[in-house]
Amino acid sequence: MTIETARRMRGAVPSAIREILKVAERPDVLSFAGGLPAPELFPARELSQAFEAVLRKNPGAALQYGVTEGFLPLREWVAGRLRGRGIPASAESVMVVSGSQQGIDLVSRVLLDPGATVLVENPSYLAALQAFAAYEANVVALPGDADGLRTELLEEAVREHRPALIYLVPEFQNPRGTTLAADRRHALAAVASGHGVPVLEDDPYGALRFRGVSSTPIAALAHGLTFHLGTFSKTLAPGLRLGWVHAPKPLIRPLTVAKQACDLHTATLAQHAVVELLGTFDYEAHLGRLRAEYRQRCEAMLRALERSMPPGTRWTTPDGGLFLWLELPAGLRDDEVFHAAIDRAVAVVPGSGFFVGPPEHGFLRLNFSNQNVANIELGMARLGQTLSELLPASSPPLVHRDELSPAPRGL
Ligand SMILES: Cc1ncc(COP(=O)(O)O)c(C=O)c1O
Repeated sequence: MTIETARRMRGAVPSAIREILKVAERPDVLSFAGGLPAPELFPARELSQAFEAVLRKNPGAALQYGVTEGFLPLREWVAGRLRGRGIPASAESVMVVSGSQQGIDLVSRVLLDPGATVLVENPSYLAALQAFAAYEANVVALPGDADGLRTELLEEAVREHRPALIYLVPEFQNPRGTTLAADRRHALAAVASGHGVPVLEDDPYGALRFRGVSSTPIAALAHGLTFHLGTFSKTLAPGLRLGWVHAPKPLIRPLTVAKQACDLHTATLAQHAVVELLGTFDYEAHLGRLRAEYRQRCEAMLRALERSMPPGTRWTTPDGGLFLWLELPAGLRDDEVFHAAIDRAVAVVPGSGFFVGPPEHGFLRLNFSNQNVANIELGMARLGQTLSELLPASSPPLVHRDELSPAPRGL
C-alpha cells in the first residue's frame, strides 16, 4: 500500500543545499557550502551562565508554556532595536518566532492563497522558495545586479502579476551577498505603497555589516505594509531557534493564530535565557567581534580568489553577511565544478539551485564565515586549480598572481 502525500507536497523539492551539506560533512572536506556562523564565536560560556541563571532564579516560568506572541521583555528588546533603525515598532508589533524561517512560513500562511503570486529576486533564498511552494504560490522572479533587485522592473511586474507579496533579502542577500541600494529601497517602497502590495523583508544578516554605511530598512519606508524578519541565528547561535517578525499591528493577530497551529509558542527556556543574557552581556561588543572576524575572513577570500582563479572568473564583494557569489568562466558548469571540487576535498554550493525558472549553471555560492583564514586560502587555491583543470585546453593558462588583472567587480 502506498500513502499519497497532499497535493502541496508534490511540487516540493528537497533542498539541494541540505543534500550537498551531507557530503560537505566529510571530515576531510573543507566546506564553503553551508550558511554556518563560526562556532568558535558562539557566546557559549555566557549562554550557559544565562540558562543556569534562569533555571535557578525562576524555573517555574522558564520551563512553563508561554504566550504565543513571545516573552514580553524579549519583544520589548526587539522593538527597541528596530526603533533604533527607524522602524516605528512596539512590543505589540513584534512576535517572537522559532527562527526567521518560521516567520517566512507564517507570513506565507497568512497572506498566500493557492495560486497567489510572490515576486522575488532571482536568484533567491532557497528555503523561502520552499515555503512559498508549500502554500502553492506562483513565484515570479525579477533579476538583480550588484545593487540588488532591479526595482525599475517592479512597477510593470506588479501591474502584470498583481502579487500578494514581494519577498526580498535587502542586506547581504543569500545567495549573492549583494545589498539593495538606497534609491532602490525608496523605489520599492513607493511601488509597494502605490499598489498596496505587502513586502516581506528578510533581514538575518543586517547586524553583520563590516563595511560601508548602514541602510534604511524597507520597514522604515513602507511601514504599514512591511513584515520585517530578524533572528539571533547569525549573531548568537542558530541552535537557539529564536527570531522575530515585526508586522503591521492588525496582522499580529492572524500571525498569532497561525503560529498556534504550528508550535503554540517559541521555546520559553531559550527566550528567558536570551533576555537574561542581553541584560548581563555586552551584545554590541559581541557584534563588533563578529563583524571584525567576518571582515577578515571575507577579505582573505577576496584576496585568495584574486590569486587563484583563472581569467574570466568574477565575484561579488559583499559589505557584510556570510556569502559571496562567484561567476564561473564561460564554458564551466556549476555541477561539474561541484563534483571536481569534492574530489579535491572542497565543498561549494552550485548556484543553479537558487534560481526560479530555468536554472543558470554558471555560478557558485561561497560561504566565508565558517573557515579560518588559513583554510580559506587553502580551499580557494584548490578551487582555483579545479577550475583551471576543467577549462578547455584552448583557454588561456592560469597566469601567475602578479600578472593577473584585477577581476571585474560588482557582479
Ligand atoms: C535569507 C535567510 N532567511 C532566513 C534564514 C533562516 O534563519 P533562521 O535560523 O533565523 O531561521 C536564513 C538562514 O540561513 C537565510 O539565509
